[in-house]
Amino acid sequence: MHKYNSGIDDLADDIVAYARERCRLDPIPLDHPKTHDEIEAACGPMITAGGIGGERALELFAEVLAPASLSPDFPRYLSFVPAAPTEAAVLFDLVVGASSIYGGSWIEGAGAVYAENEALDWLRALAGMPEGSGGVFVPGGTIGNLSAMVAARHDAEQRRIEAGGEVPSRWAFLASEAAHSSVESACLVMAADVIPVPMDDDFCMQGDAVRAVLDEHGDRVCGVVATSGTTNLGRIDDLRGIGELCREREVWFHVDGAYGGAGLAAPDAHGLFDGIELADSLIIDPHKWLFAPFDCCALLYRTPDAARAVHAQHAGYLEFLDAYGDWNPSDFAIHLTRRTRGLPFWFSLATHGTDAYGEAVQVTLDLAEEAARQIRAADHVELVVEPSLSIVVFRRPGWDAAQYQAWTEKMMGDGTAFVVPSRHLGEPVYRFCFVNPLTTADDITFILDAMS
Ligand SMILES: Cc1ncc(COP(=O)(O)O)c(C=O)c1O
Repeated sequence: MHKYNSGIDDLADDIVAYARERCRLDPIPLDHPKTHDEIEAACGPMITAGGIGGERALELFAEVLAPASLSPDFPRYLSFVPAAPTEAAVLFDLVVGASSIYGGSWIEGAGAVYAENEALDWLRALAGMPEGSGGVFVPGGTIGNLSAMVAARHDAEQRRIEAGGEVPSRWAFLASEAAHSSVESACLVMAADVIPVPMDDDFCMQGDAVRAVLDEHGDRVCGVVATSGTTNLGRIDDLRGIGELCREREVWFHVDGAYGGAGLAAPDAHGLFDGIELADSLIIDPHKWLFAPFDCCALLYRTPDAARAVHAQHAGYLEFLDAYGDWNPSDFAIHLTRRTRGLPFWFSLATHGTDAYGEAVQVTLDLAEEAARQIRAADHVELVVEPSLSIVVFRRPGWDAAQYQAWTEKMMGDGTAFVVPSRHLGEPVYRFCFVNPLTTADDITFILDAMS
């Protein structure tokens, strides 16, 4: 099993050929989900005492399993937050797997961690956070938010103890109702509360509203979670107002830019993020809108030591690591062993240059404008709110929730588009989220025409 022999050499050819073909696919098919029973019937038992052989396993993957998994990089996949990894990033993911690098500590992964840090630093500089800020790539925004919020609470608790104050039995975070569900979920894990901050008429959280809630609940608030690109509407909270308030009140300011933070790369959109540089912690998911394969969330701290103070694991068998350099990525989130998942992102940035990233993000911003233009011009659909970043939310007047659902299922079944209904203020709506520069204006026309 562990020896490289001629059989493995053949398998290597097959695997590389498969990966190359997947990259070459044009157009990429949406594919179709299948039921458990259908997949079982098509595959039979795949894990057996004697093994079915790599060739057969790859064949089953190619013929049954992969086609039963939707392709978020299909250009008419506009739901949730899709993915559009660059070919360079996807191919380098193969290299990362083949390299068997342990990315938890500097001594074990120095070269790879150096490269990951270079990619993190590009994001840091885009956000305008000070030099010395840093962090780690974690699997996704959910773990990024949780890790940052754990650091925020620990920091608040330490400061409270040092000041001789009383530690609340339950800490709380402030966030708007548009904050991502992972914020609520992090609080559940932490036995903390989310105190909702009312939004303004444009579904953004403003500094003044945060101030009012802080005045009421201040004693037990350990952090404010602002969103720079809400998932449903793409709205950016008042980062400057909230950031300055957090400074004044010495409350941790976390910015969830999991989806929207990528907009910093586009010169036209950069100004929308004014105040993001005040963040104590920030997440941006390159697997969303920065063209990296799953799973890749950049987690940055203004003061990495504050994260290290709570996340570094201590054990006799780990002591050796502390003697070598002070940048052990494990120290900055809830994890120990880690894949150097930032490397495909780094490789693609190194390959194409950062200008290409700005241009590609701009293409998707332009697609959102184009979609809004087409919706305004059409009689059978209408915008629900003005688009923000690369998200466009609209309704199909005359359809009820069941019709929204049926249309989506039909398009998915036909393999022509993947646009699922969302909900806004209780109303079923459709939502486009553009992250794929290969989506075209014709794709938008096709989808909208199919709703008429
Ligand atoms: C704003 C925001 N935060 C956090 C998340 C969670 O990210 P992940 O799915 O990578 O855990 C998402 C996911 O869409 C998001 O849009």
